[in-house]
Amino acid sequence: MKRVGLLTSGGDCQALNATMRGVVKGLSSNLTELEVYGFMNGYKGLIYGDYRLLTSRDFFFFFTKGGTILGSSRQPFKLMREPDEKGLDKVEAMKQNYYKLRLDCLVILGGNGTQKTANLLREEGLNIIHLPKTIDNDIYGTDMTFGFYSAVNIATDAIDCIHTTAASHNRVFIVEVMGHKVGWLTLYSGIAGGADIILIPEIPYDIKKVVEAIDKRTKAGKGFTVIAVAEGAISKEDAKLSKKDFKKKMEQRQYLSVAYELADEIRKHNGPEVRITVPGHTQRGGSPCPYDRVLSTRIGVTAAEMILNEEYGYMVAIVNGKMKKVPLGEVAGKLKTVSPKDPIIKEAKLLGISFGD
Ligand code: F6P
Repeated sequence: MKRVGLLTSGGDCQALNATMRGVVKGLSSNLTELEVYGFMNGYKGLIYGDYRLLTSRDFFFFFTKGGTILGSSRQPFKLMREPDEKGLDKVEAMKQNYYKLRLDCLVILGGNGTQKTANLLREEGLNIIHLPKTIDNDIYGTDMTFGFYSAVNIATDAIDCIHTTAASHNRVFIVEVMGHKVGWLTLYSGIAGGADIILIPEIPYDIKKVVEAIDKRTKAGKGFTVIAVAEGAISKEDAKLSKKDFKKKMEQRQYLSVAYELADEIRKHNGPEVRITVPGHTQRGGSPCPYDRVLSTRIGVTAAEMILNEEYGYMVAIVNGKMKKVPLGEVAGKLKTVSPKDPIIKEAKLLGISFGD
C-alpha cells in the first residue's frame, strides 16, 4: 500500500498532466493498493488541506493537454517561513496535512522557487521527489526540463510568422520571448526561427552593436532584421548597476518591457520602422510537443519507480539521455544559465547572429 501526494506549483507549462499521468500509471500498474492525493493550486492546497483523490483515469483526456488538472499558484519561497494573514505557520500546516493523510511521499512538480520549498520540506523530514518543469529550462542538474521544447516550438512559430511580414515591409521586428533570468528559450527559438540578432540576460548588449548589426544587414541589401529578445535582456550599462539601483531603475522605467525600450533606442539611432511582437503566455499554453510528452512520461515513471523503491529526497533529471536521481540538497537554489562560452553561442556567432556584445 502506498499513499502519494502530488502538486504542481509556480508558473505552469505544457506536460504537467503528462508527467503526473506517468507517476500515477507507473504506480497503479505495479501496486494493488494505492491512494494518490492531488493538492489543489500548488502549495496552497498543501497548506490549507485542499486535495482530491486521483486515479490514472483522471488523466485519460488530459495527457495531451497543457495546463494542470490540479491548478497552480505562485507561493514565494521567501514567504514560506512567514505566517499567513491569519497567523498560520505555513510550513507546520504543510507537514500536518502530509502526516494527517499518512503520505509515503510527496511528488512536487515545479521550477526553481518550487524546488527550494520542496527542499525545505525535505529538510523538515518529509519524503519528497521533485520533478523539473519550466519553459525556461533553467533548473540546475538536469539537461532538460519538460515544457521547454513545447515553448520553443511556439516561440519559433511566432518568429517564423514575423519573418515573412518583416521581409515584405523591410522593417525591424522585435520578438520578445519569455525568460527573465535566463536566455535558453530565446536562444533556441531565435536560432530555430532564423533571428538575426539574439539578446539574452547572460550576454548584456550594447545598443551601438545592435544598431551596427542592423546597418550591416541594410548595407548588404537585406532590408529587414528580426531580433529575438529575452524578457530579461539587459544593456551593458544596466548590467554595471548594483542590484538595488537596477531595481529602482526598473520601477521607474517608462516602457512596458525591454522590447519597447529597445525599439525606441533603435529608432533614435537609425530610424528604421520598428515593430514589436510579444507572444507572452501563449508560450506556456497549448499541447505539449511529442518530445515533452516522452520526456515527461519518462520523468513520471522514474518517479514512480523511486517511490516503489522508497528512494526520496531527489530531483528526477535527464543527463546525457539517461534518467538520473539528483540529491535535492545539491541543486536547490541553483540556476542553470547560458554560459557566454557555450559552444552554441560560438556556432550562432559563426552563422552571423549578433548578440549585441
Ligand atoms: O517561469 C516561467 C515563466 O513563464 C517565465 O519565463 C516568465 O518570465 C514568468 O514565468 C512569467 O510569470 P507569470 O506567469 O507569473 O507572469
